[in-house]
Amino acid sequence: MLVEEFGRNLLALILYPVRRDRKTVDAEYNDGRWQGILSGKRWLGCKTLSDFVIPPGDKWRIAKVGNKCYRTSDQEYYRYRTAVLQDVVGKLTPACTELVELGGGYGANLFALALGEKKWNRLIGLDISKNAIQAGREIASHFGLTQQISFDTLDIIKGSDLTFRHLRGRAVLTYYCLEQLKHDTRIVIENILKAGPSRVIHIEPTFELLHLSSLKDVVTYLYIVRKDYQDNLLSTLKEYERKGKVKVLMVERLYYAPTVRNDPTLICWEPCL
Ligand SMILES: C[S@@+](CC[C@H](N)C(=O)[O-])C[C@H]1O[C@@H](n2cnc3c(N)ncnc32)[C@H](O)[C@@H]1O
Repeated sequence: MLVEEFGRNLLALILYPVRRDRKTVDAEYNDGRWQGILSGKRWLGCKTLSDFVIPPGDKWRIAKVGNKCYRTSDQEYYRYRTAVLQDVVGKLTPACTELVELGGGYGANLFALALGEKKWNRLIGLDISKNAIQAGREIASHFGLTQQISFDTLDIIKGSDLTFRHLRGRAVLTYYCLEQLKHDTRIVIENILKAGPSRVIHIEPTFELLHLSSLKDVVTYLYIVRKDYQDNLLSTLKEYERKGKVKVLMVERLYYAPTVRNDPTLICWEPCL
């Protein structure tokens, strides 16, 4: 399975090189995945928020959990993913009741957080994709959560955008969003810093921590290169730490993914005042 994945990625890297620019991201998300989510309106068939976040059924996948690849049901995988997200974000934000997700898509993570501890008074999802924002608003309305969960459009590369005001004094999460912005890591970190969040949590793959002695990591390495995904988040944050601009509080690989590759690392930092 891993060897097959390796071969597929190598071939794609040679035959279809990708440049991850705005056009590529729009085609994959706004006009692709989020358009499909918005037109599919899966939430209309869900009686509870739990059914939406952790879809019942026996559809299965090969996923990575604890750095091992398993055949598991979607339901089991999304139950696990939801529990990890609630646990790590909860532990890293003990005094917070409000959180902003940058590049939050239609709010899959915010709806998962709302399912957990009742600590969140306000969850705000910001994304460049209009289709994702529209879907997020419809989902929040369907489950009667518009007071708690709201959405707005924001291009996180545009530091002048007033929507950045939502970050001031709040905890900020990114989950596979900076993955899309390898060419703009510094700009994004600067924009987040300028906006004055209390604490920032990234759940993002980190190229810098891959071990090339492990076939699993080699497969992820090749996948990241072929998709032109993020490869400098951790080194950029370390550079900001050396300059005294941020304090990195935690770096820990989480070793789970909905496929056999591209598992994330948990990085938590605070701005230095
Ligand atoms: C892999 S998806 C992750 C979505 C969400 N965090 C999740 O876990 O379901 C990446 C998201 O980043 C968003 N994105 C990409 N570039 C962005 C930008 N410049 N500003 C804001 N969002 C952006 C995309 O529209 C997409 O929703």
